[in-house]
Amino acid sequence: MIATPAAAVVLAAGDGTRMKSRTSKMLHAIGGRTLVAHAMLTVGETNAPYLVGVVRAHRDAVAAEISAVWPGALIADQDDIPGTGRATECALNVLPADLRGTVLVTYGDTPLLASQTLLELTTVHESASNAVTVLTARVPDPTGYGRIVRDAHGVRSIVEHKDAVSGGDQETLAIDEINSGTYAFDAEVLRSSLKSVSIDNIQGEKYLTDVLGIARGAGARVDAHIVTDTWQIEGVNNKVQLAAMEKELNRRTLERLMREQGVIVADPATTWVDVGVSVGSDTRIDPGCQLLGTTTIGVGCTIGPDVTLKDTEVHNGASVIRTHAEFALIGEDAAVGPFSYLRAGTTLGKGGKIGGFVETKNAQIGDETKVPHLTYCGDATIGKGVNIGAGTIFANYDGVAKYHIDVGAYSFVGSNSVIVAPCTIGDGVYVAAGSVVVNDIEPGYLGVTRAQQRNVDGWVARRRTDTKTHEAAEAAKNANLDATHQYTKTEDQQGDSPE
Ligand code: UD1
Ligand code: MG
Repeated sequence: MIATPAAAVVLAAGDGTRMKSRTSKMLHAIGGRTLVAHAMLTVGETNAPYLVGVVRAHRDAVAAEISAVWPGALIADQDDIPGTGRATECALNVLPADLRGTVLVTYGDTPLLASQTLLELTTVHESASNAVTVLTARVPDPTGYGRIVRDAHGVRSIVEHKDAVSGGDQETLAIDEINSGTYAFDAEVLRSSLKSVSIDNIQGEKYLTDVLGIARGAGARVDAHIVTDTWQIEGVNNKVQLAAMEKELNRRTLERLMREQGVIVADPATTWVDVGVSVGSDTRIDPGCQLLGTTTIGVGCTIGPDVTLKDTEVHNGASVIRTHAEFALIGEDAAVGPFSYLRAGTTLGKGGKIGGFVETKNAQIGDETKVPHLTYCGDATIGKGVNIGAGTIFANYDGVAKYHIDVGAYSFVGSNSVIVAPCTIGDGVYVAAGSVVVNDIEPGYLGVTRAQQRNVDGWVARRRTDTKTHEAAEAAKNANLDATHQYTKTEDQQGDSPE
């Protein structure tokens, strides 16, 4: 039977000085989730009726993050007395005084700990009728961690690394079994033992680890539960460990996507996927991609190479190449990139296209509509089947306020046009290339604001005499080409042509 703890506590009050940061250690993120959020979600998944987060350093920011991640969590404030033991005492103060059963305590800086491991720990702890069960692991390099001192009856005590060093205790330093900082305690034993914990150690802190020796001294059963997956108990104390942990979390995320969802990951070493991202089967992720936040990707898509998607939705069969997108939606079978920048509020319809050197923002682009080259499209609603020519600018900002532009279904905007907001272009409209559109255009009209072209005969011969240009012109004339026929359009043709 799987046992459920009576309460679970996450210690998140420490200063995190080894991070050398102006931000709390708890608010550093890996895989798109803060360390304290990883910890809260892991303990939350045990279904413990009470969850407590203990805060002190960067108190308001850390408490706000805990409440955002787990709204029902109790917040306990640690006072001036430092140490994990004191932090746990402060947690007990916000729990019912008569709470019985198992209290899980974990540290906010071990983000790869799995809830399954916590349930195993609780089950082992309760079925062995232990007073304390500590989660441990044997590691090749135990430097920095508390050492598990065993005897014939189980665990005798935990000795902190710094105390073993200051005491010159080589025998203890040679122990390779370490304290993970995750424990199952009998509530009453925890409460009473903490009263006896002193600050008599090299760090002058009230250590939670001292509870084990004290409980054992009082005749209680104290034991360890060893995990073999040592990443689960690794703590983050500095930014080197933060980077290593993020890499391992990413490796686990990619492995899950490949094994469980059938995603193709061409190069796991250069593919970074946040824990909150989902990807459908047979989607191929090419090298150099970052899929961040709450991004969701459908089945059979092609993502990459070199794509960053943040909080973006990509529907089935779409292809996204060398693109940066945030808070965007890319429709089914749509194509984006290369070199596209989709900003917040961009939605691209089914079968649509956003091509090279195009920037979009707050733009709803219809099904089968194409914005293929060199365009800025902001604050716009574009209907179905529209073609936006190369170099079109949606001039949505007058220096003070932003306005909206509508382009109706099956309209055609010629290259290098500027559409000045606010403006409505109806359904089935043509805008001639190079136009600056400031007035609305009714359905079926051609909008054109182009200046008339003049061709000046003999200009090169007069003004650029004896240049290569002149030579080329003379050669062409001498070759008997009918230049007038080949190179001049009549005024009539210009007026009708949208190109
Ligand atoms: C601690 C353990 C050590 C263990 C290691 C595992 C103690 C005394 N030592 O050492 O045996 O091997 O974790 O990673 O427990 N915290 C508070 N209030 C405080 C101090 C710390 O809430 O006054 C919180 C921190 O925010 C952190 C956690 O407790 O989440 C652990 O603190 P940290 O300073 O990282 O302890 P370690 O030196 O890693
Ligand atoms: Mg630590």
